[in-house]
Amino acid sequence: CGIVGYIGVKPVKKILIDGLRELEYRGYDSAGIAVLQEGHFSLFKAVGKLVNLEEKAQNYESTGFSVGIGHTRWATHGKPTELNAHPHLGQNSYVVHNGIIENYQELKTMLTAQGIQFLSQTDTEVIVHLFEYQLKTAATPFEAFQQTLSQLHGAYAILLVNADAEGTIFFAKHGSPMIIGRNRENETLFGSSDAALIGKCHEVIYLEDGHYGYASADSVALFDENNNPVVLRYTPLSENKLSAQKEGFRFFMEKEIYEQSRVLADTLLGRLRDESIYFEELDNNLFEGINEIKLCACGTSYHAALVASYLFERHSKIRVSVEIASEFRYREPFLTADTLFIVISQSGETADTLESLKMAKRSGLKTMVICNVDNSSMVRLADASILTRAGIEKGVASTKAFATQVCVLWMLSLFLGGARKTLATEEIKRQIHLLRALPSTVNVENVLHEQLRRLSKRYLHGHGFFFIGRDVFYPLALEGALKLKEISYLHAEGYPSGEMKHGPIALADPELFTIALLPQHMLYDKTKSNIEELSARDSTICSISPLDFDKADDHIRTHLHEDYMLEFFEMMVVLQLLSMEIAIRLGNDVDMPRNLAKSVTVE
Ligand code: G6P
Repeated sequence: CGIVGYIGVKPVKKILIDGLRELEYRGYDSAGIAVLQEGHFSLFKAVGKLVNLEEKAQNYESTGFSVGIGHTRWATHGKPTELNAHPHLGQNSYVVHNGIIENYQELKTMLTAQGIQFLSQTDTEVIVHLFEYQLKTAATPFEAFQQTLSQLHGAYAILLVNADAEGTIFFAKHGSPMIIGRNRENETLFGSSDAALIGKCHEVIYLEDGHYGYASADSVALFDENNNPVVLRYTPLSENKLSAQKEGFRFFMEKEIYEQSRVLADTLLGRLRDESIYFEELDNNLFEGINEIKLCACGTSYHAALVASYLFERHSKIRVSVEIASEFRYREPFLTADTLFIVISQSGETADTLESLKMAKRSGLKTMVICNVDNSSMVRLADASILTRAGIEKGVASTKAFATQVCVLWMLSLFLGGARKTLATEEIKRQIHLLRALPSTVNVENVLHEQLRRLSKRYLHGHGFFFIGRDVFYPLALEGALKLKEISYLHAEGYPSGEMKHGPIALADPELFTIALLPQHMLYDKTKSNIEELSARDSTICSISPLDFDKADDHIRTHLHEDYMLEFFEMMVVLQLLSMEIAIRLGNDVDMPRNLAKSVTVE
């Protein structure tokens, strides 16, 4: 979900909607804005994307000073309906919220017993009613806000506006990001990500958990969880509009696939020496006393972690385990102090991954994050961080972020292999040479894209897809299946090729499409037999390989490379484009697939 807020004299509708547009990729089930001007509230909400909200609010214009809050939603409690869209109203106040109020049922029962009526099924609505309930006895609206916060359990970022405190926004952050910005024109802005503030503010404060307070156009009062005042520490915000534009591509996803060559060059920049890998952000002693690495992530980032588990053990001879963050959090893991805990996250905000990182820190482990967003919650929390430098990724289906994650992890495996002396210098040199070839390896050639576009029309029906591969091509198969699922809504599963005979092959028939990764330099013969087993049982096979394969119904020929890791990256691009072309043919909105959000800051 995304939050914006504004206090100032400019036309507020445009500022709020522009801000929401920057955050829309984080959730687009519904959106809304509320504006308080001269004691009078105006409220607009709409289901679906932001354009619907713009249409609803098209006749509204403000003049002069106003206070506004806005929200774009990814539903957690309650369906994506207009009634459930934020802002939520009480008698005299409005609230927007990201996160989950865990004790909302109890609070709702208590408030309902007091005769208060609820309009929505959301957890958020209890905040505004609880606030107004407190307001009856509190000395000031701020005191009522404080009392409200003290009763909320769970994760939240909140903005609240009350008509009796005109010119003021009450705010709080606990487990979900919130940023306050100011500019030279006496305006205060809020955003749940700095993307909403770039170009509008020159300085920002990234709120810490437990921070709350109130703001006017020219001042901010900030408190910590113990109610002590906090000194305001602004950090400069780049004034360049970094906002991603589609630049002639049909979708952000397409642009981001094509961008991979350039961003991988950025990822490598300054990190390759002749015979070693260099990360200026890492302390020399980070790996001292470390005998095990635990990788933890969600979604696509989890697949990058799986790739890393192969590379780390192969190159640095260190024990590696991989964890899905939502599982790790609750399974009472056995942690030992000689473990380095590495989280991987594009956004740096995914709630489950962030909590896992906190758990590891509490257990006294050394921690590290591989992340695409500087200043994100995880980057601020971890002992060490490596930025992937993919630039803003807008497509919900992650592409360039994954490519840069795998690139960083590959480099890190060599870095470790060097430090632990498990890789010979010659081998490190050879792999550095391969890394240098990455940008050209992921370049999209017209012929390939055209072939995939044509091929895609044969893969629109059928009862499902298997993506299969071995070694690092197994996590790549998982990622290929996830891409297809996310944007085409077709059923797809990734499997290790050798697992077919243990169950999945029972599904094989001509309506089962197998996308088979058959690299030249990784278990070629073994994988080939696995594919033949499927072909013998009439599955429709689309093989991806630099070598001929006569058992395939369709064959996508990749280039000959000298190493399996380069084959990995080229096949990654093939899978991304194939999913995208299938989804486009099905008429789907590739950048904003149904039911998904880019950054899931709720559990
Ligand atoms: C969401 C996105 C996925 C992403 C996952 C982890 O579910 O839809 O594309 O892989 O979160 O996100 P992160 O920002 O932590 O990498």
